[in-house]
Amino acid sequence: MDDLVSLCKRRGFIFQSGEIYGGMQGMYDYGPLGVELKNNLKQAWWNAMVYENDNIEGLDAAILTNPTILKYSGHEDTFTDPMVDCKSCNQRFRLDQVPEHCKKEDLTEPRQFNLMFKTNVGPIEDGSSFGYLRPETAQSIFTNFKNVVDSSSKSLPFGIAQIGKAFRNEITPRNFIFRVREFEQMELEFFVEPGSDEDWHKKWVQKRLDWWEDQGIPMKSIELYDVPDDELAHYSKGTIDVMYKFPHGLEELEGIANRTDFDLGSHTKNQDELNISANVVENKSSNTRLAIQNIETKEWVVPYVIEPSAGVDRGVLAIMNEAYNVETLGEGKERTVLKLMPHLSPVKAAVIPLKKNNEELVKIASDLKSKLQKLNLGRIILENTGNIGKGYRRHDEIGTPLCITIDFDSIEDNTATLRDRDTMSQERMEIDKIPEYLIKVVNGL
Ligand code: GAP
Repeated sequence: MDDLVSLCKRRGFIFQSGEIYGGMQGMYDYGPLGVELKNNLKQAWWNAMVYENDNIEGLDAAILTNPTILKYSGHEDTFTDPMVDCKSCNQRFRLDQVPEHCKKEDLTEPRQFNLMFKTNVGPIEDGSSFGYLRPETAQSIFTNFKNVVDSSSKSLPFGIAQIGKAFRNEITPRNFIFRVREFEQMELEFFVEPGSDEDWHKKWVQKRLDWWEDQGIPMKSIELYDVPDDELAHYSKGTIDVMYKFPHGLEELEGIANRTDFDLGSHTKNQDELNISANVVENKSSNTRLAIQNIETKEWVVPYVIEPSAGVDRGVLAIMNEAYNVETLGEGKERTVLKLMPHLSPVKAAVIPLKKNNEELVKIASDLKSKLQKLNLGRIILENTGNIGKGYRRHDEIGTPLCITIDFDSIEDNTATLRDRDTMSQERMEIDKIPEYLIKVVNGL
């Protein structure tokens, strides 16, 4: 973990937030390369969910949330962690995360601590008008259910996908970007006929494992955890956690829950006219029926929901951890290389003129850079430093799949040297063929 954290800072992936004032616990900022990696990961999820499935639509809802939503969702009452104080070291811990140096007899009785952040909304600060920063993106998918169904004419099964920030006032944020107070989620709420939910649950677990593998996480680093009943969230009938071997231990990367008809059933009006199976509290505030009509039977059905919910930040950490390699090169030399899947790499290619500021070489290199940039594959960098060795080392460390060197032969025969990040092998290629080649590299073709 220390090596990864140091690489992240040195190369501009991730910084402690507000570091110049001593930082703030549980908050991180993504730097120039981190933002590219994170955006690429989110785009890969969006492609796999929304673009590859005609029955899944996207959403981008507000973060500030009306408290009524989080009252009926159950979060006001149950979104809590047990907390204890240590009377010896005067620190506060989540009950399951008390460090070994605290003695049992020094701990207070556990009390429930609500993890939601509350904030004033509007100019009056008397507490009468407040909102929550959403603790999960899911709730706005449920409250927009009818809007999406009506505007996109969906029938079951179908899904609504959302990527966005979520906030939790974690008692003990820790392990770099693993447990933080501000993070991003990629969530799908997939609505299905009651009775077909268990089959869909299994299908989504497999689809999500396949997707993580496509992002460079091998299945040997993953274990599935079938969450026991006494650990299930208040809305869940069954949850499979995708556990990843993080540098600090085996922990949750994504949860795939069967949320039954709990959420739509909690937020709908006319609850007693609908055959809701979950145990929901009476809702007298909702003005909308969150159900769908079966075309044949004309019966109104509250769909069941299967929810794959992944953390973007935990995804970034897992992917970087897998990609991070230190290789020995002989003669006591070694190189650090980030073997990212090329579609995730922050920089797709570096174009390097052999001699710094040489007019002819730089012209060929910058023309090629512009051409490659226009392919919209992601960032292409013109590396006008004149130090090829240093360029290769930097681009190995940040995971750039391809370095392209323009030398004096390029002026004569319009070719360049391509150097592969993983094998370090070099080949000569006509410059005109490089765009097509790069498309193949980035798309893994
Ligand atoms: N809507 C369901 C839900 O929010 P969750 O298991 O509480 O379920 C889903 O969260 C995912 O969000 C987790 O698997 C994890 O990847 C990520 N996550 C949750 N809390 C986090 C935190 N404090 N820091 C970073 N990621 C977090």
